[in-house]
Amino acid sequence: MSEETFTPALGRLAPARFFDYVVALTRERLWRGLTVMHLAPRPGDTILDVGCGTGSLALLAARVEPQANIVGLDPDPEILTVAREKDAHSRVRWLTGMGDDLVASVGAESMDGVTSSLVLHQCPMDVKRAILASMFAVLRPGGRLVIADFGWQRTPLMRLAFRFVQFADGKTDTQPNADGVLPELISAAGFTDVREADVVATINGTISIYTARKR
Ligand SMILES: C[S@@+](CC[C@H](N)C(=O)[O-])C[C@H]1O[C@@H](n2cnc3c(N)ncnc32)[C@H](O)[C@@H]1O
Repeated sequence: MSEETFTPALGRLAPARFFDYVVALTRERLWRGLTVMHLAPRPGDTILDVGCGTGSLALLAARVEPQANIVGLDPDPEILTVAREKDAHSRVRWLTGMGDDLVASVGAESMDGVTSSLVLHQCPMDVKRAILASMFAVLRPGGRLVIADFGWQRTPLMRLAFRFVQFADGKTDTQPNADGVLPELISAAGFTDVREADVVATINGTISIYTARKR
């Protein structure tokens, strides 16, 4: 299954090219750093960033381990233009493609690691499931999954803060994340050792970092 449409990076708020200015307000360095720490790229690893947007996470992974092969994939050609412009020196491979059809883009069981940040909260439930199944299909046995996204909003303050994201991306797709659905969906896709490894409070709600493995 592949979706023909997708929610752009800033939803209905603004054009995608302004995304980096908005995401900078979310303690970005902290949660991106934790995400790459859990991903732990090693020399020779091939790692896919699904819904890479302007490429910040993929470029950080490439800086942390220059001998890893990093692939950034996104359906939005406009935002990939920004990613390519930011990528002066790294060897990141940028691909246009949908997250629910990753086998078509990179091949089955071809990845040592798959990561994704701030993508699933924007997707309808069936697309969240399809993207996770697709991630499972492209990981090699033993491969690792690290997802950073708005997760369970535990407190009234964080639920209030998350309303900004819900204004931009709509409530239907975002509320399941706020209710804490992601670990259950990750397990249902076939992953094991599913863990909410870190939780970072931001002005837009908490971002959780989920880790899991394909056995
Ligand atoms: C909020 S942005 C996050 C971008 C980037 N991951 C980051 O952390 O800066 C969400 C991105 O997901 C992409 N996206 C939306 N639907 C998608 C899908 N079905 N498959 C893959 N990417 C998708 C959008 O084009 C957008 O670039």
